[in-house]
Amino acid sequence: MTSADTAKPAGRVALLAPDLENLSGFEAALSAGWSPDPRRAGDEAYIGGELQRLRRDRASFLDNLVQPAASVPPLTNHLFGVWDGEFCGGIGLRFQPGAEYLPPEVSGHVGYSVVPCKQRKGHATAALGLLLEVAARHGLARLLIFCNEDNHASRRVIERNGGQFFLRGPHPSDTPEQIKLYFWLHPAAI
Ligand SMILES: CC(C)(COP(=O)(O)OP(=O)(O)OC[C@H]1O[C@@H](n2cnc3c(N)ncnc32)[C@H](O)[C@@H]1OP(=O)(O)O)[C@@H](O)C(=O)NCCC(=O)NCCS
Repeated sequence: MTSADTAKPAGRVALLAPDLENLSGFEAALSAGWSPDPRRAGDEAYIGGELQRLRRDRASFLDNLVQPAASVPPLTNHLFGVWDGEFCGGIGLRFQPGAEYLPPEVSGHVGYSVVPCKQRKGHATAALGLLLEVAARHGLARLLIFCNEDNHASRRVIERNGGQFFLRGPHPSDTPEQIKLYFWLHPAAI
C-alpha cells in the first residue's frame, strides 16, 4: 500500500491499494464468484482464469492489477480495494495526467464493483466519494463516468456523488446496442 494514494476512511469504508498482504481478500472474493471487471460479472471462465493467475504468481498478478496493459496515451491507474474490515470490492481511477481526454476504448475515468454479499450497504456510494478525494488530490477538475442505462444501482451511486447527466448513447468500449448514461463528476465539489 502506498500512503500517498490511500484515501482516509469515510465512516467504516476505506480504500486500500492492493498489496501482497491484502491480496487474500481479493482472492476470497474471486473464489466466491466476484468479477473485478464490472463488464464481466458472472463470467465464470474469466473469474476462474483470474483466480488461477493469482494463485500461480501472486507478485505478477499484483503488478498487473496496479499497472494494467499500456495504452496510448499512457494512463495513470489507481486501483483500490474497498474494505469495511473485510474485502468488499474494487474501485479504480484512470486518467491522463494534465488532460481530460481518455482513449475511446477506456470506459470512463472510474470503474467499480462490489462483492454481491456486500451490496446495498452504501459501500459503492462511500467508495466513490473517497475516490473523488483521491482525484481532487491529483488535480483532476472533472471525471467522465457512465453506466448502462438499466444499471439503476450504479446510476444512484453516481447521482449520490453529484454526477451530472449529460448524454445518453453507446460508447466505443462496449457494443453499439448497449446504451449508456454519461455523467460528469466534479472531484473538488465533494
Ligand atoms: C453498482 C454496484 C457497484 C452498487 O454497489 P452497492 O455497494 O450495492 O451500492 P450502494 O449500496 O452504495 O447503493 C447505491 C444505491 O443503489 C441502490 N441499489 C443497490 N443495489 C441495487 C439493486 N440491485 N437494484 C436497485 N437499486 C440498487 C441502493 O438502494 C442505493 O440507492 P439509494 O441511494 O436511492 O438509497 C453493485 O451493484 C455492483 O457491483 N454491480 C456490478 C458491477 C457494476 O455494475 N459496476 C458499475 C459499473 S458502471
